[in-house]
Amino acid sequence: MTELNRQMRRRLTFAIISHPDSGKTTITEKLLLFGGAIHIAGAVKSGKKVKDSVSDFMEIEKERGISISTSVMGFEYNGRKVNLLDTPGHADFSEDTYRGLSAVDSALLVIDSVKGVEDRTRKLCEVCRMRHTPIATFMNKLDREGKDPMELLDETERELAIGVRPVTWPVGQGRAFKGVYNLVERKLLLFNAGQVERPVDIITIDDLEDPLLEEKVGQSLAKKLRDDVDLISGVYPPFDADEYLSGKATPVFFGSALNNFGVRELLDTLTSLAPHPTPKLSGERIVRPEEEKFTGFIFKIHANMNPKHRDRVAFLRVCSGKFERNATYYHVRSGKPFRTANPTAFMAQDSEIVNEAWPGDIVGIHDTGVFKIGDTLTEGETINFKGIPSFAPQIFRYIVNADPLKEKQYHKGLNQLAEEGVVQIFSKPNQANLRVLGVVGQLQLEVLQYRMEHEYNARCNYRAIDAIIAHWIMSDDLKALKDFVEDQSRKILIDIRGTHIFMSDSPWAFERVKATNPLIRFYSTSEMVEDRDASA
Ligand code: G4P
Repeated sequence: MTELNRQMRRRLTFAIISHPDSGKTTITEKLLLFGGAIHIAGAVKSGKKVKDSVSDFMEIEKERGISISTSVMGFEYNGRKVNLLDTPGHADFSEDTYRGLSAVDSALLVIDSVKGVEDRTRKLCEVCRMRHTPIATFMNKLDREGKDPMELLDETERELAIGVRPVTWPVGQGRAFKGVYNLVERKLLLFNAGQVERPVDIITIDDLEDPLLEEKVGQSLAKKLRDDVDLISGVYPPFDADEYLSGKATPVFFGSALNNFGVRELLDTLTSLAPHPTPKLSGERIVRPEEEKFTGFIFKIHANMNPKHRDRVAFLRVCSGKFERNATYYHVRSGKPFRTANPTAFMAQDSEIVNEAWPGDIVGIHDTGVFKIGDTLTEGETINFKGIPSFAPQIFRYIVNADPLKEKQYHKGLNQLAEEGVVQIFSKPNQANLRVLGVVGQLQLEVLQYRMEHEYNARCNYRAIDAIIAHWIMSDDLKALKDFVEDQSRKILIDIRGTHIFMSDSPWAFERVKATNPLIRFYSTSEMVEDRDASA
């Protein structure tokens, strides 16, 4: 096996997806503890305290800015190099999260067993489904009185449109939580609140009729477990690795992250099952990780929060070949060479200069304004990776410069922050000077204003615009598209790639326009959903 193949197969690059408060931060921390990457609890900063205040958000971002290494946490476990990507918890920054998912090969879904499937979970799973990203599921907080496990499975399958395959099963719940039974290995893991080490009480029970079960968990829970297991095996097919790898079904684990229960088993399973880097689709061809030549794309740009240094870090996902420090690569969008001096790798709380990186790795590149999200680096080939789309904004505003003397700063700030993905900028046909901003959440607008002022010394104001829904539009019939754009010109925007966007002021109005314009296709992301399958 070549070095490239060996390194590639060791990589496991994933992200945790969850609704805020489900336990993402707690699990991340436990994974890092077990992976030996951190030694004390409380080292992982949570973004969950951000509510709606821009100053709170900026404070947290500043803290994170100092240690941007928390954006990617790397550690070794079970012979694999694990890269865990952090994604923003706040719903207003969901675009950043969606894009982060383009850089991973699998996802861990965390569901709060008290609340069940929640809003953000649905959206994030939808993004994973579009890309056929394999998902493993952890039902958290079993130490609390939550929903019935059967109901949780049913809800997950129904609401997330993915097959569920329980791998462990809880014995009791809430105060009566005794542990989990591993249905595949036929082992009982007994629960001790707060244990850090691997549970010592692992009992092999091949036959559930074994009286040892009663002895360990009591009569009524033993009976319930037997009944449950009977029921599950009748309803759900056994776990099948291929179904998981193709994103059709998710293995489900139960536990309590806060009590370290079930997390290590989860990590054991992930490191043995989760996929190594998968092929990625580009506009030109499918790029396989084992290809000799290096390719990679930028999926995130992180500003340095220190206003004195306008530098940014661009996060590059290595897709194929070996990435080398000080090599000169081809920056596809500009057609210019780019030399990668001092690339950085991230190991939990630290970052270090790396000399090489392999498919699946995430490298931080010092950026002086060269990169945009979605940019590709190669050894010379023209490749444009797909799957890093913009998502339709839900809030629109006209933006105007509030200080005419600072025209230059205003444009510079606006362009750079748009490149970072803080906001999307659109223009209007025939109105070259008018700019429209699109964001997913209100907080993004405030962050833009704050950062324009503090980092670029520019001020901006917003004016309302009558739109709440937007769709990218396309048509095979170019005349029909041109006519539509002309007829609806008041409601048309143009994105940075020159693609048209149609705004509607209500779902009802949108449906009517759609019905009366059958030649026009409407999309909710900037990339056409159906051609996003990288693994096909
Ligand atoms: P998030 O990153 O997904 O937003 O969630 P986070 O890990 O911050 O967890 C949200 C809350 O749920 C935290 O409590 C955390 O302690 C709690 N939690 C996580 N896992 C479990 C679990 O297995 N059982 C129980 N009972 N609680 C759990 P908090 O009170 O909001 O914060 P904190 O003061 O404890 O940090």
